[in-house]
Amino acid sequence: MRSNEEVVKLVNVSKRYYLSSSVYVDALINVNLTIRSREIAIIMGPSGSGKTTLMNIMGTLDKPTSGQVIIDGIDVTNIDEKYLSKFRLERLGFVFQQYNLVSQLTALENVMLPMLLTGRYTKDEAREKARLLLDLVG
Ligand SMILES: Nc1ncnc2c1ncn2[C@@H]1O[C@H](COP(=O)(O)OP(=O)(O)OP(=O)(O)O)[C@@H](O)[C@H]1O
Ligand SMILES: [Mg+2]
Repeated sequence: MRSNEEVVKLVNVSKRYYLSSSVYVDALINVNLTIRSREIAIIMGPSGSGKTTLMNIMGTLDKPTSGQVIIDGIDVTNIDEKYLSKFRLERLGFVFQQYNLVSQLTALENVMLPMLLTGRYTKDEAREKARLLLDLVG
């Protein structure tokens, strides 16, 4: 990835949650945000200010009510779920607060899993890479 490249770009992103047909919450209103490669971004704000909503939209787990979401130069705003799961597998990493690890698998197997799903690694290659990655973070 080139440095300075835009990896996340939100253009006028809004999210409205409907509680009933006439009652709604505007969680995000016209958010414009660019994050470039090698940047570390921290999103802060009081409870209910829309951080989780924003993260879910940036992570393609949820769609905005309006606006555009561009990740790695690809407009993912209206892409269907079948393609999005592949997109997430290949381009996004998530560390959830609740981890969401597969409890039947070991730590090593959890790290290997996405590599095996891409079909780009043999089991031995994935195991080796997973060991290196786990060593890196202790
Ligand atoms: N699924 C939903 N349905 C209806 N309203 C929602 C939904 N999810 C979030 N909201 C509302 O949208 C607003 C933003 O919520 P969000 O969870 O994104 O905030 P947050 O900054 O992550 O808060 P916290 O710091 O408590 O995690 C809040 O008013 C919340 O009540
Ligand atoms: Mg939250």
